Amino acid sequence: MNLKIRIWRQKDAQDRGQFVEYDAPDVNVEMSFLEMLDVVNERLIARGEEPVAFDSDCREGICGACALVINGVAHGGQRGTTACQLHMRHFHDGQTITVEPWRAKAFPVLRDLVTDRSAFDRIIQAGGFISVNTGGTPDANTIPIPKTDADDSMDAASCIGCGACVAACKNASAMLFVSAKVSHLALLPQGKVERERRAVNMVRAMDSEGFGNCTVTGSCEAVCPKEISLNFIARMNREYGAAILKNK
Ligand code: SF4
Ligand code: FES
Repeated sequence: MNLKIRIWRQKDAQDRGQFVEYDAPDVNVEMSFLEMLDVVNERLIARGEEPVAFDSDCREGICGACALVINGVAHGGQRGTTACQLHMRHFHDGQTITVEPWRAKAFPVLRDLVTDRSAFDRIIQAGGFISVNTGGTPDANTIPIPKTDADDSMDAASCIGCGACVAACKNASAMLFVSAKVSHLALLPQGKVERERRAVNMVRAMDSEGFGNCTVTGSCEAVCPKEISLNFIARMNREYGAAILKNK
């Protein structure tokens, strides 16, 4: 398969950046999207040019590092799939593929396709933890938890913090991410001690990082590689509202 790849090139955070088109001949359809970029980079290095900077780590869909907008869609548009798990068989011979970084004020571009997503880390630091002593694994297994709560909590916990929800949202809202983190802990007995403080602190941290507000367009849910439901945003709003009212 022969492709043309239009890639966002930007030297550093100050550079204006621009798209540069590269030929990608003989692409194997079994390659992942990142493996295709590796081959593009090897050719650039062989020609003495700067390789394209992009983030990746696990390449198994579990770490959330591979933050790429592919043909205008965060993670490339395959439902429930990260960019690292997207395969070239979903593209066709002769296609021009556009690759760019997440675009959001709170995720500044550092270089080429690499963005600074430390804003998410600071939101987690504001409340995405529990500080009660929960004992060992056997102790956890002796606490009865309703099956529906355990399932909902596990669904929320599957958020990998990739930021695609922000990249897809016209408001650059981080509410799907924050609601997943708030809900995953609030649903379990171990997380209830700090429940109110957590919701308030994480929402405040989200606002102070410059993320926008949710207007329920659903674009976040559509691109989320872990298919986190919009229902978690409604749950977070209830958590936050209850905490504010109680502490008035
Ligand atoms: S909610 Fe989905 S899209 Fe947003 S950070 Fe979590 S896994 Fe990524
Ligand atoms: S590189 Fe880890 S999720 Fe894609």
